[in-house]
Amino acid sequence: MNSSASIVKTILADRHPHPRIEKGVAFAPANIALCKYWGKRDTVLNLPVTNSLSLSMGQYGATTEIACINQPLDQISLNGVLLLDNNLPFVKRIRSFLDCLRMTDNRHAQSTPITTDTRFSVKTQMNLPVGAGLASSSCGFAALVKALDVLFGWQLPLKALSILARLGSGSACRSLWTGFVEWEKGERSDGMDSYGVALPEEWPGLKMGLWILDPNPKPLSSREAMLRTVGTSPFYSAWSSLVEGDLKALKSAIALKDFEQLGATLEANACSLHGLMMSARPPILYSTDRTLKAIHQIREARKQGLSIYFTQDAGPNLKLFFLDSSQAKIEEYFPDIHIISPWEV
Ligand code: DP6
Repeated sequence: MNSSASIVKTILADRHPHPRIEKGVAFAPANIALCKYWGKRDTVLNLPVTNSLSLSMGQYGATTEIACINQPLDQISLNGVLLLDNNLPFVKRIRSFLDCLRMTDNRHAQSTPITTDTRFSVKTQMNLPVGAGLASSSCGFAALVKALDVLFGWQLPLKALSILARLGSGSACRSLWTGFVEWEKGERSDGMDSYGVALPEEWPGLKMGLWILDPNPKPLSSREAMLRTVGTSPFYSAWSSLVEGDLKALKSAIALKDFEQLGATLEANACSLHGLMMSARPPILYSTDRTLKAIHQIREARKQGLSIYFTQDAGPNLKLFFLDSSQAKIEEYFPDIHIISPWEV
């Protein structure tokens, strides 16, 4: 069976020893799925059942600084706060990812030894509310692997970094690039063909709006919700073919810059996901009354002729999509949103 540690070892095997520098720092943008990843064929390696497609969130994301320290434990901090509770999901996930690195135990490499005793200081700054379904784990792991790459001078290709990030959190494999990224699900059991691929198209006129309706951590992680949906929803078997159709429609909309097709498809994909989750046992409901009210406002604005669409991940918040030509009107209708230019980094 493939373990995350054996994949990390394979990826690092052909790296030439390189002097370690004092610290590695890197930024990765968060990404929002236009066609969602929901369901794994391998829960250890985070291998998905289907492809998925995302758009990066410009300057919104994570900046991670990593260094080796002489301490008994890793020191993990988020937005300037040292996290001492080992049971926090953020701490647990980062630590178990670092454990995979330690298991590679390359003490024989001349100048970049990572041994079972290596401990790290990981300082992450995120300019997004953590855990509120705003893709914070995606940028967190992507920034972490990029920072490690700098620290150890691995000079890994983005594809390999994408695989490493995926081991931390599936959607993180799409955060190594700016713009549209498709996560190829791959077929192999070791997941070496499951990584992000950047689409060549750019669409600078496409804008996102972040509508934070509830910044508090969500009650159920997307990881648990995904497992429960796959395991109990009577409709999960329909998900793969739905995704296949949505991906086709989204990619042709991107190629043709057909905003109506893009918006209608991404919104329908998100609604299908939430319907699927509600069909799990026990049902999963991330929408709050504020979410539903906001969805009705968006639909009402559309009736009035405004071209605007939304998506929703595993949380109550919404991300809106519109074109820059309607930005002034959108700001009037939705004064609480943060506007994001995906290509401005
Ligand atoms: C709804 O990537 O957080 O945002 O692989 O278990 O870490 P794990 O899950 P995660 O799930 C993201 C789910 C989603 C859809 C998406 O981003 O595609």
